[in-house]
Amino acid sequence: MKIFIDTANLNEIRKAKALGLVDGVTTNPTLLAKEGEEAETLIRKIWEEVKGPVNVEVTGMTCEEMVKEAKVMATWGEEIVIKIPITSEGLKTVKILSSEGIHTNVTLLFSPSQAILAAKAGATYICPFLGRLDDISFNGLELIRQIRAIYSSYPNIETQIIVASIRNPIHVIEAAMLGAEIVTIPPAIIEQMVKHPLTEKGIAQFLEDAKKIGTKK
Ligand code: E4P
Repeated sequence: MKIFIDTANLNEIRKAKALGLVDGVTTNPTLLAKEGEEAETLIRKIWEEVKGPVNVEVTGMTCEEMVKEAKVMATWGEEIVIKIPITSEGLKTVKILSSEGIHTNVTLLFSPSQAILAAKAGATYICPFLGRLDDISFNGLELIRQIRAIYSSYPNIETQIIVASIRNPIHVIEAAMLGAEIVTIPPAIIEQMVKHPLTEKGIAQFLEDAKKIGTKK
């Protein structure tokens, strides 16, 4: 399973990279707005850091607007993936961009039927939003399970699942167990995944005992 980092914060990306965790990055307009830097400049910096897939979202509403925006964004780095919300205009855009070899990610995806359409349009990736479904008391993991089952039934589907909107480490574990190709994880959740109270307790105990045997001052 690949790990993408769900942030536009360069320092956070560098920290995760030092741990060997960055197979790619996902951004959205909200994440970019938090950084207070002009989008193109920041995305170029992120791409230089990652040298892998960097997802950037279009904001146009019509196919024409989205294709125009996407073609500019695609020049911001060598592996820019264009995120496109799932609408009829969005699907048309995916079809056009994928036929031109531009990688796409169908985002804001909340149902298996949307996932079927995205694959049919030729999306490189889809982003089902697990946490936002949980937030409104729907079973987000059930959505991932259904999409995985559908995509696995048709070997000709090449669209990869990026499980998005991750709220806790259990989401990551479950996504991995369901066979998602990618999980995009916010930096704070990575911190949570590293930690375990028994690890901390064990380290403290070993340090204490190491002092008794002269291997720790
Ligand atoms: C990633 O591509 C999504 O935009 C992101 O995971 C959404 O997460 P949120 O629901 O925490 O905003």
